[in-house]
Amino acid sequence: MTDELDELTRQIGGGAPYDVLRFALERFGDGLRIACSLGVEDMVVIHEAARAGKDLGVKPRVFLLDTGRLHQESYDLADRVRSRYDVVFEMYAPDTAQVEELVRTKGWNSFYESVDARKECCDIRKVQPLRRALSGASAWATGMRREQSVTRSNLGVVERDTTHDASGAPRPLWKLNPLASWTERQTWAFVEEHGVPTHALHRAGFPSIGCAPCTRAVAPGEDVRAGRWWWEDPSNKECGLHPRRSA
Ligand code: ADX
Ligand code: SF4
Repeated sequence: MTDELDELTRQIGGGAPYDVLRFALERFGDGLRIACSLGVEDMVVIHEAARAGKDLGVKPRVFLLDTGRLHQESYDLADRVRSRYDVVFEMYAPDTAQVEELVRTKGWNSFYESVDARKECCDIRKVQPLRRALSGASAWATGMRREQSVTRSNLGVVERDTTHDASGAPRPLWKLNPLASWTERQTWAFVEEHGVPTHALHRAGFPSIGCAPCTRAVAPGEDVRAGRWWWEDPSNKECGLHPRRSA
């Protein structure tokens, strides 16, 4: 498996996002899933995946994990993505019975009470739907960048994901982070140059887009993820979609 990882990294690890996504669409076809939170990085990934898909004559599969607690601005942008890009845009929702049980036993805002309570909500509303979104997938792509946080400083363009194997059995699920080495400035230069639509809340001081009750604007110069779960220690700030240790 390490050999395969080395080989994939050699083939696409240094490529531009378009090349990484084009390679992945050719190699994995329908088995590639693009995770989209509608943040600026994901918009770059969708734009480039749609371009590669058009060149190859295939429709990339994109998914949004709709936690039920997203900002209205996220839904507005999701509809723009649907009408503008030639992709299959799927939505995955949490299990209704689990959400009802969570709210019945712990109320609507349990995530503010402890890290465990917050992770329980993220597990029900994001991590379990992610497993369904990745069912049958061979690879998934994200918009993550190394610069975003201490927990992402060792992010590879190509990684092997063992966490989200839907069956629980070991099988290779590749995780691609085509923007791993990109800076924030590079990301914004790209969307401006190519007229890529972006989330309205970025203009209101939100560099990172998550759920409405768990995300707030940051002050100029503050860390880009400081507004996510702002009441928690920075080393905890992963929701289970991307579990990893600090480098
Ligand atoms: S999070 O784990 O803290 O929520 P972050 O918001 O930085 O992650 O997003 C990192 C990547 O995870 C995004 O680029 C996107 O690929 C994926 N992602 C995050 N949230 C969602 C979501 N709600 N739906 C689909 N993909 C998501
Ligand atoms: Fe729940 Fe907040 Fe996690 Fe969204 S970010 S799933 S509201 S704890």
